[in-house]
Amino acid sequence: MREKGLPAEAVLEELKRKLHGDFTFESGRILGSMCTYPHRLARQVYAEFLEKNLGDPGLFPATAEIEREVIQTLGELLSNPHASGNIVTGGTEANVLALWAFKNLRMKNDGEIVVPVSAHCSFDKAASLLGFKIVRVGLNNGFQVDVEAARKAITPKTIALVGIAGTTGLGVVDPIKELSDLALEHNLLLHVDAAFGGFVLPFLKELGYKIPEFDFSLPGVSSITIDPHKMGLAPIPAGGILFRNEELRKAIAWKVSYLAGGEIEQSTFVGTRSGASVIAVWALLHHLGREGYRKIVERCMRVTWKLAEGVKQVDGLDIITKPVTNVVGIKSEDFDIKLIAEKLREKGWAVALFPRYIRIVLMPHIHESHVERFLEDLKKIVKELKG
Ligand SMILES: Cc1ncc(COP(=O)(O)O)c(C=O)c1O
Repeated sequence: MREKGLPAEAVLEELKRKLHGDFTFESGRILGSMCTYPHRLARQVYAEFLEKNLGDPGLFPATAEIEREVIQTLGELLSNPHASGNIVTGGTEANVLALWAFKNLRMKNDGEIVVPVSAHCSFDKAASLLGFKIVRVGLNNGFQVDVEAARKAITPKTIALVGIAGTTGLGVVDPIKELSDLALEHNLLLHVDAAFGGFVLPFLKELGYKIPEFDFSLPGVSSITIDPHKMGLAPIPAGGILFRNEELRKAIAWKVSYLAGGEIEQSTFVGTRSGASVIAVWALLHHLGREGYRKIVERCMRVTWKLAEGVKQVDGLDIITKPVTNVVGIKSEDFDIKLIAEKLREKGWAVALFPRYIRIVLMPHIHESHVERFLEDLKKIVKELKG
């Protein structure tokens, strides 16, 4: 650390210079991320209420009330206004919390959780932390979990199933209704990871898309992850974990007694946590409303179709599957997809590479003009590879 501090302006200048190498959302070059430029109002609110600490809610009871309202609103969005939960650091923490509750409620000496191969790596982290076994099951032709394979994977040690509503790779939705029936039939808990899809699917449904049931309207669903810092346009960190009822949430409730605001019951992984994030989510839910989110999702889907159609017209390339949400997987029978991804990166496009495809997420910061430029570069790369 330097002995004598620098003036604030000098520090800001230095930071600008140092951070110059980062990608920016405004550039339209970030094509492979599930995060986006936070909404203007959320940035303002976040900065204004930065000191609020929900790790000590006795000091910030009004902020804690705002969190309850946010959870209630998200619960309503997911067909259960009585859901109980928290705004947490992200989808990873939310998924870990759900499985932690399941473990505390059901696991005796050992336990197994049946998870699709398409599930996010946070479930492996949860298994490593919590000491249960993850049993991965395959997918059907639509890249959704194969429900019969899930049924066959159930053993006397199985405590829960996991379904994904908006997969990390392709944004597709597992047959959650069938998983819910399976969970009820075998007395298992069921977690739905809608970290990405939670802020997309309800609005697609309102826009008239045929979206299968995936939320608490299905009686077998015990908990849902829904992340405001993905399609909710909230600043990081803002993940969401919702339990069907208080009893489930209480399975991970800890008494913390040393706090300045007095003893509390905490059901998050972390102690000190951002109240500003939660207030920013509240602000967005009220400012955008369903109509605002519908418009955002509608625009993202328009851009998604434009990309999907454009890719299909490039000789040698195709899409993996028809987009269900605003995610497109680009594959090739003729060329090495890893090489294409490398060449795209050389041209400044931040794309995500999966084992058989390039994943593009058409987040709100991506406009039609960005897609047009991307398609031009993609065509040039394919032409080069053809030689
Ligand atoms: C379906 C799904 N679940 C969970 C996560 C993890 O979320 P986070 O990165 O906020 O921890 C992701 C990340 O992309 C995801 O796609």
